[in-house]
Amino acid sequence: SVEDKVEKILQQLTLEEKVGQMTQITLDVITKGENVFVSDEPLTVDKKLLEEAIKKYKIGSVLNTANNRARSTEKWNEVITQIQKVAMKEIGVPVLYGVDAIHGTTYTAGATFFPQQIGMAATWNPELNRQGCEVTAYETRASSIPWDFSPVLDMGRNPAWPRIWETYGEDVYLTSQMGIAAVKGYEGENNDLSDNTKVASCIKHFLGYGSERSGKDRTPSYLPEIELREHYLPSYKAAIDAGAHTIMINSGIINGTPVHASYKLLTDLLKKELGFEGLVVTDWADIENLHNRDKVAATHKEAVKQSINAGIDMSMVPYNFNFCGYLIELVNEGEVPMERIDDAVRRILTVKVKLGLFETPAPKVKDYPKFGSKEHEQIAYNAASESITLLKNDKDILPLKKGTKILVAGPNANSMRTLNGGWTYSWQGEKVEEFAQDYNTIFEAVQNTFGKENVNLVQGVEYNHEGQYYEEKNIDIQAAVKAASSADVVLLCLGENTYTETPGNLHDLYISQNQRKLAEALAATGKPVVLILNEGRPRLISQFESDMQAVVHTYLPGNFGGDALADILVGDVNPSGKLPYSYPMYPNALGTYDHKPSEASEKMEGMYDYNSSLPFQYAFGFGLSYTTFEYANLKVSNTDFGPDDNIKISVDVKNTGKVEGKEVVQLFTKDVYASITPDNKRLRRFEKVNLKPGETKTVSFTLSARDLAFVDADLKWTVEEGEFKLMIGDKTTSVNVTKTKKFDQASN
Ligand code: IFM
Repeated sequence: SVEDKVEKILQQLTLEEKVGQMTQITLDVITKGENVFVSDEPLTVDKKLLEEAIKKYKIGSVLNTANNRARSTEKWNEVITQIQKVAMKEIGVPVLYGVDAIHGTTYTAGATFFPQQIGMAATWNPELNRQGCEVTAYETRASSIPWDFSPVLDMGRNPAWPRIWETYGEDVYLTSQMGIAAVKGYEGENNDLSDNTKVASCIKHFLGYGSERSGKDRTPSYLPEIELREHYLPSYKAAIDAGAHTIMINSGIINGTPVHASYKLLTDLLKKELGFEGLVVTDWADIENLHNRDKVAATHKEAVKQSINAGIDMSMVPYNFNFCGYLIELVNEGEVPMERIDDAVRRILTVKVKLGLFETPAPKVKDYPKFGSKEHEQIAYNAASESITLLKNDKDILPLKKGTKILVAGPNANSMRTLNGGWTYSWQGEKVEEFAQDYNTIFEAVQNTFGKENVNLVQGVEYNHEGQYYEEKNIDIQAAVKAASSADVVLLCLGENTYTETPGNLHDLYISQNQRKLAEALAATGKPVVLILNEGRPRLISQFESDMQAVVHTYLPGNFGGDALADILVGDVNPSGKLPYSYPMYPNALGTYDHKPSEASEKMEGMYDYNSSLPFQYAFGFGLSYTTFEYANLKVSNTDFGPDDNIKISVDVKNTGKVEGKEVVQLFTKDVYASITPDNKRLRRFEKVNLKPGETKTVSFTLSARDLAFVDADLKWTVEEGEFKLMIGDKTTSVNVTKTKKFDQASN
């Protein structure tokens, strides 16, 4: 059995070798020893450095893509084979190699790229997400890499946070469903990692990442436990129950405690309460950060002690900090128990054994004929086209007729880099334009669809790709205004340039001044303006939105985003994406759809209206179609039900328009009164259905009383007796839970 094999290997390892297993270095350490982000040299492993890492430190894991270059599956295979040979010879244990293949196998040339997670969430189609992750697993394994630092299960609840686009949005139920699908896509239905088309997934970043008070990455969060458990924990619980093999830890501080030093979160909650048996890895340099940045450890050695004792199994070092040396000393001094080391190494070895790395440390490239195939690309295209979200369509300006004369403007009009976002080909996506030449930008795709003679490009504003992500250059608004005079319609492509992590921190959520001025000037020409948003978070557009005749949100749709958008603009594809977050209207009215009633109170004619919603530009779950849908016959199997019972809810959905379309049927509930002020409403179920014109389908959901539970003042999941409203589309009904019940914490 796996356990026997792991025990046998564990018995053979010395303390040095065990500590080595717990160490992960960046590939750069064994290539040139230079910073990973600056070099453009082709990759070659330095034999001397490799042997030093393995002989001296006995390292058990490597991450990353050393230079800013995508490389072929053959090159990856060569590099990883070289590493594995030394590891097998010196330690007898293969290295576990990991990368951030977060929207496709993003560091391998010719791989298939999907929309970033936020776009996958906007499809509201978990099966499509599963298929995408399955392709990514296949192509990552084809690159000889068996471990993927994905999916992100953090909540995108602060719109300013620069990693919103890496999340599945603001709702924990949608995130859970997408997370389960991702884990199954990466690891397979039965999480059988011996299948060499699968990878070990890494759910990240446990727990509470993304809700920093300032909205800036890796700044402190203040999250009461009641909130953590209600809105942040369930997605991790769902993915752990789905069998996720590894987990990465939140780099930040919650309520003053760095998560990397929190025994309460890592051992009590994650390992004991949730029963997580997999591997716990740090984020980048986060053990030394306990000393350098967070100041809870007076020395690096103390930082190692705190984090390993808290429950960390593997340290993403990544450079020359003396993690191994300190840990060996700490064990010898009795400061870190040997059982803790054995527990960590057991978890690491289990993943290696399950992946079959001892038998096949690097698979053969020729065993992956579907790498980058048309079949894989079709799934990426489907995902892009199902993610794109139509937010406004005044006077049905869309779809546009063939032959329409179009001016394509704005800084996002002609860039593969902005379509893909970060972690693409290279760390921050610096090399995307160079590598993505076979794919179409928005301008190119619109030209292909509407004819070269009909489509003109004058951007008016460009990004300065050499500078910070927010810098813009070549501001020539008048040139765009002039070009608009010979167009029937303006396609204005606004949004953000690419960034990754902390460099994407932001002072102002409004879209840039230059872009706003461009929008206003183009609207003033009197030509209809269709606003295309291509951005990683919802930048405020309220100052000019009313001047836009249509608004289409593309998120970061990947290499096929331009094509999918053009097909939507011409009407070959009917848009079906829905917002996975609330799109804010004002900087001081940020929030989520599931806010408390008083957050939304607006003084209206002397009265407070506590039943309103926050004033969003566009609501969570919203998205238009080229057809119309009507809901009827909302029914429940029984209106009264006990805390252990289920109810069945059904509704008829009809396509009342003229074209075929997909609708996302969303079931929300509202607890009318409860001992903890209930949320405005909560998403409980959803299903995407395809309907022909005139067609009706009955959609049914089963809900247990358990699904209506919330975290109460004692931190227990509780369903309280009383009325709950059920809402689907514009229809509402009510049910009664007959008896209050507290549930076992772990069973939610
Ligand atoms: O996986 C990532 C993480 O999401 C952010 N910091 C770096 C890690 C490894 O690249």
